[in-house]
Amino acid sequence: MPRIVYVNGRYLPEHQATISIFDRGFLFADAVYEVSAVLNNRLIENRNHLRRLHRSLDELAMDSPLTDPEIVAVQEELIRRNELREGVVYLQISRGAADRDFVFPTGAQPTMVAFTQVKPLLSSPQAEEGISVITTPDIRWGRPDIKTVGLLASSMAKMQALQAGADDALLVDSEGYITEGSACNAYIVTTDNTIVTRHLSQAILPGITRSSILELAREAGLSIEERPFSVSEALAAREAFVTGSAAFVLPVVKIDNRQLNRGRPGPLTTRLRKLYTERALREAGERD
Ligand code: PDD
Repeated sequence: MPRIVYVNGRYLPEHQATISIFDRGFLFADAVYEVSAVLNNRLIENRNHLRRLHRSLDELAMDSPLTDPEIVAVQEELIRRNELREGVVYLQISRGAADRDFVFPTGAQPTMVAFTQVKPLLSSPQAEEGISVITTPDIRWGRPDIKTVGLLASSMAKMQALQAGADDALLVDSEGYITEGSACNAYIVTTDNTIVTRHLSQAILPGITRSSILELAREAGLSIEERPFSVSEALAAREAFVTGSAAFVLPVVKIDNRQLNRGRPGPLTTRLRKLYTERALREAGERD
């Protein structure tokens, strides 16, 4: 059975779905996106994803072609048609197709595409064993807080990591502080068991998983600091981890060839992953 995808109001087998070569998402990366997790055929944290989608659209003065209930109906229809139990729904809105010009077009019809991807969320080798990361300069554009599809710098960082035999990259600003991962938020746990993650600003994406993890950590009485942390602080940390909708919480067991917690996922990271997974499963179990 071919995957069924959504493009501008139609559900089509993926090989039949097309958009214009003049689409501004294609020519200018003039498009925003969201990735929502799916567990037990149910969307996780989707309300928060839609809220961030609107923030991204507003920052770029872009319109949504659909209302929120209509977007949810598309996401749910894709889950249904593709029988997706565990994975993600990707959703992208571009400013639409118009003759190539740096000026935003007036009257272009926004393009919306969406598709499902099967992914293991609850258990995976990376979740059990942890991941290794390198650090590399953050060369992304100046507004990574807007979730645009301009992801080449992140893709290059990930490739650099793979070529170095690592799984992912942590991005470092010009002052030596870690901003976030190539497609995830980054955290360390200091030797006095404080969770440290970069504060929200234009330098990082305000992660949906980040917000929930900080809430769960607070509820559990854990100590949290939202501030910049340097590469040397990360190398001296007790534990490290990353979060994202498609990863939940992944332990980081090696940074630039330096092992953390003797190369094993740390206890605090394991606890937070469990808390987040339990919350997601509760949401997946809820019926309207
Ligand atoms: N990435 N930071 C960046 C740069 C990201 O691209 C992502 C998500 C996150 C985590 O955000 P959230 O918890 O809302 O997923 C942080 C998605 C999953 C992706 O591009 O595939």
